[in-house]
Amino acid sequence: RFEKLWFGASLLLIVVLIATIVYGAVGPGVAMVDDSGGIVDPSALTDSENFREPGVYEADDGGYDVYVRAQQFAFQPGTNSPIRVPADTDVTFYVSSPDVTHGFNLAGTNVNTMVIPGQVAEVTVNFDEPGTYHIVCNEYCGAAHHTMRGTVEVV
Ligand code: CUA
Repeated sequence: RFEKLWFGASLLLIVVLIATIVYGAVGPGVAMVDDSGGIVDPSALTDSENFREPGVYEADDGGYDVYVRAQQFAFQPGTNSPIRVPADTDVTFYVSSPDVTHGFNLAGTNVNTMVIPGQVAEVTVNFDEPGTYHIVCNEYCGAAHHTMRGTVEVV
């Protein structure tokens, strides 16, 4: 009977679908390779130097450097405490991730970069005037991706 065949086919489709979702969730993703061809451990980067103590630092040139750790599902700083920087000053964001690819988008500005595990995304911006800007993760990074938000306060 055809019914049995269709039932089997749709069952197979469901199994393949579930397997695809599971693989996407726990699969290996994209491995990063360094200059010498070795696999980079992304968490090694975010544990290093300034990423160990993410935050706002005054730069030698009078600007500000902001080290941000993007990790499922928060920006540190940014999510639990706002990033506070002055207006009319060059602010350079260095953003890295120890887990999966995230996005770092400041809504209403031209700051919009991918945050790839094991790499440092760098973007400089000069905020004209004081205000509040929302940080949005715009790369799908897991179940709570849509909750991954933060705030930049320009004072
Ligand atoms: Cu982080 Cu989406």
